[in-house]
Amino acid sequence: MAPKLVEMPVNAVRLIRKMRGGAQAHLVEADDGHFYVVKFQNNPQHRRILVNEWIGSTFLTYLGISTPEPAIIHVSRDFLRENSEVCIQLGTGRRPVEEGWHFGSRFPGNPMRNVVYDFLPDSLLDKVENLGDFLGVLAFDKWMANADSRQAVFFRARLREWLPGSGAHPLRLGFVAHMIDNGYVFEGPHWRLQDSPLQGLYFRLQVYRGVRRLDDFQPWLDRIANFPEEVVDQALKQIPPEWIAEDEAELWAMLERLLARGRRVADLLEASRAARENPFPNWKRHDFAR
Ligand SMILES: Nc1ncnc2c1ncn2[C@@H]1O[C@H](COP(=O)(O)OP(=O)(O)O)[C@@H](O)[C@H]1O
Ligand SMILES: [Mg+2]
Repeated sequence: MAPKLVEMPVNAVRLIRKMRGGAQAHLVEADDGHFYVVKFQNNPQHRRILVNEWIGSTFLTYLGISTPEPAIIHVSRDFLRENSEVCIQLGTGRRPVEEGWHFGSRFPGNPMRNVVYDFLPDSLLDKVENLGDFLGVLAFDKWMANADSRQAVFFRARLREWLPGSGAHPLRLGFVAHMIDNGYVFEGPHWRLQDSPLQGLYFRLQVYRGVRRLDDFQPWLDRIANFPEEVVDQALKQIPPEWIAEDEAELWAMLERLLARGRRVADLLEASRAARENPFPNWKRHDFAR
């Protein structure tokens, strides 16, 4: 069954390459002229990962945090026949990918010309134009109970094009961070909202160096506390029914709990602050080198 799409459906036309990572995403070219990193319905993690990705992307966009444009990508039988290497690898076995609707995260630009980095060295990380988005996305990850650490990709581009609010000169180039991989919000397949103080952090803690007070997480804290139900409804309407299958009631119940917990994000951030600790807590001061 085709989802009720607001935009035109997007079709995969060519495989570029398989990506690394537990979901075994594939980079494809699509017929809208863009390239997408696609996670399939029968990815090794869970079908619900696609729902999490879709909701995560639309919420990040509403919050004003830089993230790739999401799309619902149609993979046809012809595409699968012409690109027979597309499959899910399970040990020594292969699981075929099925025709249908899958989740796509738009690659910024053309992968044949533009380089996208998974990591930046510390000296360049400090120069990322939208470094502040790491504070916004931490508030988001606390709220959404992201069981994974935060992941981002980086690319050098015209800032005005990618960060509309930046006010940069139209020709100025700089590094942009895109927040990606929201598959494990809601604790992945579990659809639970548990709190863990160290969850959701970016592995380079220097991105939080500027934090002096809770107010540094504004305007995102207020936006989350007053998150509009219409944004949730709109996101749900666009999800292909087969991604949700028989889990609709469970999803609704969880999203209701999510909206109710929006005001608790400040507490969750304070709990992270209290929990930041030495990774070797039992390594006492007097135990010096011998
Ligand atoms: N929109 C995107 N643009 C460029 N690269 C991406 C994008 N989305 C994902 N990737 C790349 O694909 C890899 C796998 O995607 P990710 O969402 O992290 O899946 P997984 O759940 O398997 O970790 C990432 O590590 C990143 O390198
Ligand atoms: Mg990942």
